[in-house]
Amino acid sequence: MNETRWHDVAEAAAIPDGDIVAALVDGREIGLVRLGEALHAIDATCTHGNASLCGGFVEPDGSVECPLHQGRFDIATGRALCAPLTQDLVVHEVRVEDGRLLVRLRR
Ligand code: FES
Repeated sequence: MNETRWHDVAEAAAIPDGDIVAALVDGREIGLVRLGEALHAIDATCTHGNASLCGGFVEPDGSVECPLHQGRFDIATGRALCAPLTQDLVVHEVRVEDGRLLVRLRR
């Protein structure tokens, strides 16, 4: 379920291509990712353990690799792609307005 509120989280142009940037949104750590023209917001905490994906690696195939046990998630869908992951990641809704990246959290 989505929140109704949009949070202004960052200057869209400041998010570098192929990298993950941490943002605290309503007390929740979110990872902001640019893949070419597309921007994404994902939960930053790995579903396998207590590791932040913001310390992980964005791969050329559009996945992010957890720094602790190398589980990989698809950034656009949150789908868990390999062991040891068994649970998908929550992805959040994004939009850009006047150059600002807005995020609507999914609970
Ligand atoms: S904590 Fe992320 S794969 Fe284990």
